Amino acid sequence: MTKISFAVIGYGHIGKKHAIMVSGSQESQLVAIVDVDAAKREEAQKAYDGVEVFESIEQLLASELPLDVVNICTPNGYHATQAIKVLEHKAHVVIEKPMGLTRQECEDVIFKSLQVSRHVFCVKQNRYSPSSKWLKDVVEDKLLGNINMVQLSCFWNRDARYYKPGGWKGTKQLDGGVLFTQFSHFVDIMYWLFGDIQNIVAMSTNFNHKGATEFDDSGLVQFEFVNGGFGSINYSTSIWNKNFESSIIVIGEKGTVKVSGQYMDQLEYCDIDGYEMPKLDPSNPPNDYGDYKGSAANHHYVIENVIDVLTGKSQISTNALEGMKVVEMIERIHRKQRQMG
Ligand SMILES: NC(=O)c1ccc[n+]([C@@H]2O[C@H](COP(=O)([O-])OP(=O)(O)OC[C@H]3O[C@@H](n4cnc5c(N)ncnc54)[C@H](O)[C@@H]3O)[C@@H](O)[C@H]2O)c1
Repeated sequence: MTKISFAVIGYGHIGKKHAIMVSGSQESQLVAIVDVDAAKREEAQKAYDGVEVFESIEQLLASELPLDVVNICTPNGYHATQAIKVLEHKAHVVIEKPMGLTRQECEDVIFKSLQVSRHVFCVKQNRYSPSSKWLKDVVEDKLLGNINMVQLSCFWNRDARYYKPGGWKGTKQLDGGVLFTQFSHFVDIMYWLFGDIQNIVAMSTNFNHKGATEFDDSGLVQFEFVNGGFGSINYSTSIWNKNFESSIIVIGEKGTVKVSGQYMDQLEYCDIDGYEMPKLDPSNPPNDYGDYKGSAANHHYVIENVIDVLTGKSQISTNALEGMKVVEMIERIHRKQRQMG
């Protein structure tokens, strides 16, 4: 069987995980890694004998290497332009979250993917956590009846251990804000479960990161779901010392549930009419980046899904339209926050 050939662009915290997953599967092979940073290229070359290492995406695409899929793991602000280059090369593309920083650039990616008939896979690996899958089933099976209220709380720590001077994190242009970089997974879960939002009221402030970030670190957001019910998101990266909690409370007509923990991965409360609280499998641990921790280490599911789609065994678990929708929702929240500001 011919293995599916992957290249990874951006050999940083998450690019390294993509490289491990791709090279660890029987059905795929890692053929190239791209990074603008010489030290990262050296690291990549040492880790992967026989894998070509390039300094730019242009060099990769000009090479004669067979490329079925290119995984974009660079700073957020580069995702859309790099995805378009990959699609123009007629390869499929995996885009780390967020898909882009504006709805317009996500639309441009989708337009190009349709033109060249190639897939766009968006990374939202939290959907694979047992608690997320359970919640999805409960909502789809309408066990909660009408949804009255949903409350999303995202309280994490990001401090000087994370925002390093001269880095892309904290910049408007390449990072875009904490809803994009830290909390888009949770906005995605909310959208996946309950759909789009409207009538947004929102405000934000910068408690702890003045001078470290070009955007606010905390916000309050209230809205209605188009499908009915009220929702809110309270978020902050100004939590002292370490991540505190990411949780979702769902108040339905026939039941109440809360999924919490530092990474929204533990079923804490479940009281549903005629239904016994299940014992869920434990989630995978969070990605550990040394000085700080992130979302669930579920990337192997993402790579498996790419392989299954390309071999005709499955559908895309998070497609470009959903990736774009989350970007668009965050963009609308930011617009409201600016109006309030
Ligand atoms: N799904 C998740 O849970 C998850 C977790 C962490 C990060 N991410 C996303 O992954 C992306 C990367 O984040 P990170 O934490 O790994 O950042 P990072 O800074 O550790 O890595 C980014 C890498 O990209 C390289 N790079 C920058 N510009 C480039 C370019 N033009 N061409 C090639 N390489 C370039 C940098 O040198 C660096 O090695 C971000 O979009 C982030 O939101 C997702």
